[in-house]
Amino acid sequence: VITAGTSQALDLTTTLFSRPGDTVFIEQPTYHLAVRIFRDHPVELAGIPADEDGIKVDVLASTLDRLKRAGKRVAFLYTIPTFHNPTGAVMAADCRRRLVALAAAEQLRIVEDDAYRELAYDGPAPPSLWSLAQPGVVIRLGSFAKSLAPGLRSGFITTDAETAARIIDSGVLDSGGGVSHFASLVIAEFAGSGEYADNVERLRAAYRRRRDALLAALSGLEGRASWRKPAGGYFLWLSLLDGMRTSELLELAEAQGTSFMPAAPFYLDPASGARSLRLSFSRYPPEMLAEAGRRLLAAAARGPLR
Ligand SMILES: Cc1ncc(COP(=O)(O)O)c(C=O)c1O
Repeated sequence: VITAGTSQALDLTTTLFSRPGDTVFIEQPTYHLAVRIFRDHPVELAGIPADEDGIKVDVLASTLDRLKRAGKRVAFLYTIPTFHNPTGAVMAADCRRRLVALAAAEQLRIVEDDAYRELAYDGPAPPSLWSLAQPGVVIRLGSFAKSLAPGLRSGFITTDAETAARIIDSGVLDSGGGVSHFASLVIAEFAGSGEYADNVERLRAAYRRRRDALLAALSGLEGRASWRKPAGGYFLWLSLLDGMRTSELLELAEAQGTSFMPAAPFYLDPASGARSLRLSFSRYPPEMLAEAGRRLLAAAARGPLR
């Protein structure tokens, strides 16, 4: 189903597949603007912890059990298993399998945000949850925002025929006939000419260089922070080791003329993000990222860990 991007698809999905008072599960941390979309609906949010290998399936199972016993209905789980925003993490293969098995057994719908799939730098992206699950479990949201241009406002949903039919039968698609006709037909032309595939290759090469420039610049932080090399997407997640809070580092970094996104907005409980931050390497050329890394190091050297 063609959408006007992942944001619109999330809004429509929440409209169609939740009822007032339902719970929506979200990973912690998660894409903070998805949370804003959910908050436009009369649903409750419940955070499920995740680490670099993906969502904690055991915690998900016990939370689901507890809510069901309390008579609550869970609308769906929202997850970003591939090149996560904000952490850059990739859900491990075993976690993917356990997650889709639990979802099938418990009839828990999964909304898979797959916005960064095309931006894989170290080999192919892992199989989507949608491709692993039996039909009816996963609604996968794709986007052309990262692989082509966000301003086109075009994306797509891949799901089973029955779920797709429910989406196509929504009032908004019935009335408008679609949500992104012109841009989607432009993209279809572009893809048909082979240019889209070439563009994705160009982006991969450029962002890989940017990621590597940032990683090289960060090596001086070893021992004071920990991070994982992101295999795709836009983001690198940094956890500060003992001694410094993100808010302190942000102030020092801005005094050095660089900045980053502190982790607090990515959590339902902002205190959880006190020692983490998100660095984005998608926007600036390698030499600027190297300079930003030097400034971040200079900022860290002025903090309590110097
Ligand atoms: C995880 C995630 N989902 C969705 C979006 C928004 O996608 P779109 O522009 O297709 O609405 C973003 C953009 O930053 C994102 O990071």
